[in-house]
Amino acid sequence: MILPDETPAPSVLVPLLWKEGRLLILDQRLLPGTEQHGEARDAEAVVRAIVQMQLRGAPLIGVAAAYGVALEARRLLDGLPLADFHDRMRQALTRLLSCRPTAINLMRALAPAGQWLEQKMDPRDFALRSEAWAHGLAQREAQACDVMGRLGADRLASGSRILTHCNTGRLATVGAGTALAVVREAVRRDPACQVTCTETRPWLQGARLTAYELSREGIPVDLVTESVAGNRLLDQAIDFFIVGADRISPDGRVANKVGTRMLAQLARTGGARTLVVAPTTTIDWEWKPGQSIPIERRGGEELWHATGMAEIPPGIHIDNPVFDLTPPALIDWIVTEKGVIEPARGECFDPGRFSSPEPDC
Ligand code: MRU
Repeated sequence: MILPDETPAPSVLVPLLWKEGRLLILDQRLLPGTEQHGEARDAEAVVRAIVQMQLRGAPLIGVAAAYGVALEARRLLDGLPLADFHDRMRQALTRLLSCRPTAINLMRALAPAGQWLEQKMDPRDFALRSEAWAHGLAQREAQACDVMGRLGADRLASGSRILTHCNTGRLATVGAGTALAVVREAVRRDPACQVTCTETRPWLQGARLTAYELSREGIPVDLVTESVAGNRLLDQAIDFFIVGADRISPDGRVANKVGTRMLAQLARTGGARTLVVAPTTTIDWEWKPGQSIPIERRGGEELWHATGMAEIPPGIHIDNPVFDLTPPALIDWIVTEKGVIEPARGECFDPGRFSSPEPDC
């Protein structure tokens, strides 16, 4: 999130922009061909943007949803009998919560609004608080990206050969990114580092977004299919496999873009180290041992469209889970803005160190 008084460098992609009570959303479906921001003025417009993948990436989804609450509160204050405020706001919150099931950042970003509704907070206070909360969250998430970038890069060696998956950069966050912030910092420290990214089937976040984001910033990148990435790992042509996360259990189980688990297994076989990079807002503190993590399944047309064909022929069943779960044993480090754990050595997130009460609520 770039606030109005900041001007980004021309190479920096800005996925969200808050301008005088409007949320401008970069439509990622049009990238890399067209950079176009659409405008959201209420929660429903934010819901549409998330569901249709105009914006995506766990931290970005969370921040956009928080702004969705702020927009809706403004709109309801302007045009409604105040007696209806709490009911209408509750409906908007339910819609926002249902947008995507795996990214816990969404639920975390909306939790304060749920509390304020339970307290029957005065609508004007609600509107002020929700806007302040969204700005604060955006700021904390942006700062977290910078810290993670440095902490992650500290783990890498000079001349590292890096593989990354999906898009975890400026287009997935409101800052420098999660895994991609580490990649950028590693290349800044040592331009001899080599970066490979997967195309990331079927939605092609790697090919359309990561490769574009890196090339705009002058960082050379090799774009490969997931199969080639697997072979590079087995051929010991990669030193570090670096990814983000959509939800992490306190014992280090990582839900991330489908393919992460397979590539982490191949990384282990080929001797590469696996780093997961995510802010603490991605940790699911409610998770209990034995519990599953919801994995989003999307329509089969996404697979079909990725092949360039317009329609699914009748009779073909397509299974399209878009995330998978990587076990702690395959993850060497999880890097957060509050420090690093080593899940493969049995280390878990200690709530005393990694969780803190949310400010402003
Ligand atoms: O389906 P997407 O594009 O929202 O999936 C995004 C990812 O899986 C990212 O790797 C994840 O959000 C973490 S990086 C910010």
